[in-house]
Amino acid sequence: MKKIISVIGARPQFIKHEPLKRLLSEHFNEITVHTGQHYDSNMSRIFFTEMNIKEPEYNLRIGSNTHAAQTAGMMKGLEEIFIKEKPDIVIVYGDTNSTLAGALTAVKMHIDVAHIEAGMRSFNMDMPEEINRITADRISRYNFAPSQTAMINLENEGMTGIFTGDIMYDAFKYFSKYVKEDISAITGLSENTSYALLTLHRAYNTTEDALKQILDRIDKMNIDIVFPIHPRTLAVLKKHNIKTDYSHIHFIEPLGYIDMLSAIMQTECIITDSGGLQKEAYYAGKKCITIRTETEWPETVKSGANVLCPGAECDLRRAMRRDEGITFNPLYGNGNASAIITTTLLESL
Ligand code: UD1
Repeated sequence: MKKIISVIGARPQFIKHEPLKRLLSEHFNEITVHTGQHYDSNMSRIFFTEMNIKEPEYNLRIGSNTHAAQTAGMMKGLEEIFIKEKPDIVIVYGDTNSTLAGALTAVKMHIDVAHIEAGMRSFNMDMPEEINRITADRISRYNFAPSQTAMINLENEGMTGIFTGDIMYDAFKYFSKYVKEDISAITGLSENTSYALLTLHRAYNTTEDALKQILDRIDKMNIDIVFPIHPRTLAVLKKHNIKTDYSHIHFIEPLGYIDMLSAIMQTECIITDSGGLQKEAYYAGKKCITIRTETEWPETVKSGANVLCPGAECDLRRAMRRDEGITFNPLYGNGNASAIITTTLLESL
């Protein structure tokens, strides 16, 4: 049986890994390495528990650090595992430092790399994720692309993608059946309260000034805001003593996947700088306001469902109220990305 090592480490990668691992395990000897990039219980463990994912065979427990130290630590640990396990292929997901470390370590050992969510571009080289994506695409043998835009991006850079659709849609479809009806215990709001769901964690939105300005603007939207706060963002609030007693913003702990899906299903709209949430909003038929100047998912903007709203000049209330000209047609495949990836690897290995 051929051996595959999957490298995961950050919250969205646990979600993307679940549907693929389920299929891969039927045909391959699949070994999972958790780099430990995310380590808080509600950033890591909860996903394995609620999605019933088998404990990773290895955990490097890298934790937080500067980008170089974090990535280098992962590479050193991964190299030892790859030497011992001799995988036929290494799978990496998305654009995190764990993605870069997995791809770079493997390719230097002449092990083929499969990059899931290949071809995504923000064209903003200030984002660490953009550097990670470009590098991972360039050194991977299989570039599994979630959108037609991603296919074109790869082609424009002289690479060939394999269209799979979005693997997060696989997870969304599968786990939607577990969403909760009564979400008051999740949001902390009484039942039937209208609210918007907020997440913020991008480096450029979590400087002291940017974060203050964004939260002040959002608080003025005049709707209850449920804000599961990422530990990076919380650390910035604490470090700079930024106030948390907003009239409308309700800070809550980061949510697990099922609770997040449940909160998404009942929100008025989503306000976010996350890539994954822009699509989850779309799949749930919810309007999204993206606090960024660009997106890797431009189709959601073209459909009218998503609007980029980065600076102070953008009217958030208007963005939330917009209703006309929005379509929610399928954009990112059929929710069978894991099957396409598994079949491609089976045929080629
Ligand atoms: C990382 C990814 C980003 C992805 C996000 C998902 C990179 C470069 N970025 O960003 O693409 O969208 O994960 O969440 O890889 N922290 C904790 N506990 C944790 C994890 C993080 O307290 O379990 C705090 C630490 O202060 C840490 C900071 O969050 O320094 C940033 O974490 P890090 O993993 O470096 O990047 P993310 O912002 O999570």
